[in-house]
Amino acid sequence: MEESLLSREPLAEEAQYERQLRPRRLDEYIGQREAVESLRVSVQAARQRGECLDHVLLFGPPGLGKTTLAHILANEMETQIVPTSGPALERGHDLMGVLTNLAEGDVFFIDEIHRLPRVVEELLYPAMEDFQINFVVEKGIHARTMRIPLKPFTMVGATTRPGLLSSPLRERFGIFHHLDFYDEDELTRIVLRSAAILGAPIEPAGAAEIAGRARGTPRVANRLLRRVRDYAQVRGDGTITREGADAALTLEGVDARGLDRLDRRVLVAIIEQYGGGPVGIEAIAATVNDEAGTLAEMVEPFLLKIGFLVRSPSGRKATPQAYRHLGYRGQGPVQLQL
Ligand code: ADE
Repeated sequence: MEESLLSREPLAEEAQYERQLRPRRLDEYIGQREAVESLRVSVQAARQRGECLDHVLLFGPPGLGKTTLAHILANEMETQIVPTSGPALERGHDLMGVLTNLAEGDVFFIDEIHRLPRVVEELLYPAMEDFQINFVVEKGIHARTMRIPLKPFTMVGATTRPGLLSSPLRERFGIFHHLDFYDEDELTRIVLRSAAILGAPIEPAGAAEIAGRARGTPRVANRLLRRVRDYAQVRGDGTITREGADAALTLEGVDARGLDRLDRRVLVAIIEQYGGGPVGIEAIAATVNDEAGTLAEMVEPFLLKIGFLVRSPSGRKATPQAYRHLGYRGQGPVQLQL
């Protein structure tokens, strides 16, 4: 997928910046109140009993804080985090190597857990349930199962596609939290906090302007903040104001609702090729020349959330709000800058 200012995936050079801005404790975390309060109780209870936290599954669109929460859980439990991802664990050996090196109480974090290969996933079942690995040595009539005991650990899985998880894997988690898009007030507070960490002077209205275009996503808000900070430094007096943020983001081609080119191409495809829908995601994907999985994960959730798209049994439909936002009048064709 192309990298863009509004991409919901972390951009290549962004990891260090994200680490710097990431809250480290539950008390610093803004938004996701229900998940945070519930995790606070789970952490405190486990600590009082001197036990590991139950295995945790976090799901929701990219950029909403799943990885951040996994790190926070390790900090709150005063243990180490051992991070990896579904695609990185290619073979059973990869998983065994990590599991046998875990210390008691460690948080074993698997990002994109829905992409775990089947053979690896099956090794994980007894590891999560009984803290042991079973593996078969030799073949045929000499086959024996060896059991390797593990130290108790907490598995934290993150996924954008919970529907793709097999039910045996899903059932081995004890705690589930769905992370949802942030509202503008929460994003404004996140932008103010990030600006303070970066030492960038900002007016509250400037933060609100960035928040309004961040598509409900802290990762996007922090990325826009960086661009606006550059603009304020070069074209202004260094302070981020509402006018400066508006000018900077307009220059970057971020529209007033924070839609990016792919979002707009999807809506335009539905409207122009399919008469506004309903149309299946595969057909939309073919028209915009992208993958259905990418659209389902990255594009659709926010368009549904802001009411630009509705989903029916027969497919996706563009709503009147989407027509209006894109400048269609009376639903006739328009020239769009894509
Ligand atoms: N930075 C990114 N996400 C954040 C959050 N939820 N709270 C505080 N700072 C953040």
